[in-house]
Amino acid sequence: MEMVIGPRTGLLSTDDLAWAYPWPAEGRWVRAMMVTTLDGAPAGPDGRSGSISSPADRAVLVEARRLSDVVLIGAGTLRAERYNPMRVKPADAAERERLGLAPAPVVAVVSASLDLPWSDAFFSESAVTPIVVTVDSVEDGRLRAAREHADVIALPGSSVRPDELIRALESRGLTRIVCEGGPRLLAGLSGAGLIDEADISISPLLTSGGQVLAGPPSATPAEFDLFHVIADSGFLFTRYLARRADAAVSARP
Ligand SMILES: NC(=O)c1ccc[n+]([C@@H]2O[C@H](COP(=O)([O-])OP(=O)(O)OC[C@H]3O[C@@H](n4cnc5c(N)ncnc54)[C@H](OP(=O)(O)O)[C@@H]3O)[C@@H](O)[C@H]2O)c1
Repeated sequence: MEMVIGPRTGLLSTDDLAWAYPWPAEGRWVRAMMVTTLDGAPAGPDGRSGSISSPADRAVLVEARRLSDVVLIGAGTLRAERYNPMRVKPADAAERERLGLAPAPVVAVVSASLDLPWSDAFFSESAVTPIVVTVDSVEDGRLRAAREHADVIALPGSSVRPDELIRALESRGLTRIVCEGGPRLLAGLSGAGLIDEADISISPLLTSGGQVLAGPPSATPAEFDLFHVIADSGFLFTRYLARRADAAVSARP
């Protein structure tokens, strides 16, 4: 079934969003969230996604995170966006408890360099200490410093293999995975066929720069079915589900 809702103006209600962005009842699920301009840019002239976003886009992002286990980002996103500490509202904490989820989602940052803003409140004041997923070839001193601020997972190699990344999260019981980018991390997940759901917001801007997924062209493009398009204040909020038998069955509410 496909749905096109709109055009409409005004912020989508929380109930609309909870209905539109369900999680499957069980199993691992990787939800990719990105906002893009009409010409495929992932950020505005200030190098951040906030300048191409909208209140409704932020509401979609909040809903996608609300009942997740882990918010997964690349180091480039943390360096550009400087995330605030991850916390939850009391009402959301109560719903999480009812569903048997941990009190708050944890943020996992992927970085080979470990060149991260360690003094940001994001590391010290998040409800759950952030995870940093890195490689075992990184210099010892950097690894030690990272362990002072984060829960570190060091995987073999000189870059993190997307399948090992997702398995490492899954092995910790983190199965509701929201990947908020950025372009290079998402390209890796997409190339490995690991994205179950692509929630792409289209912003009514042309900026002439950048790519919302930035990696080598994939020999086998990942295919998706459109599940919904919501129009709000000139933005389109699309939800696509991976065209795999298991995805098609398990994601539809
Ligand atoms: N439009 C949106 O929705 C959206 C969302 C997120 C970000 N953005 C924008 O995207 C831009 C940043 O782009 P980006 O491509 O740099 O973002 P990114 O994918 O978040 O970060 C890339 C960095 O992440 C680490 N990384 C990614 N995959 C890795 C792997 N397989 N193994 C090891 N490390 C890995 C590396 O960090 P190290 O260099 O530390 O090794 C790499 O340099 C910013 O302008 C940001 O605002 C937009």
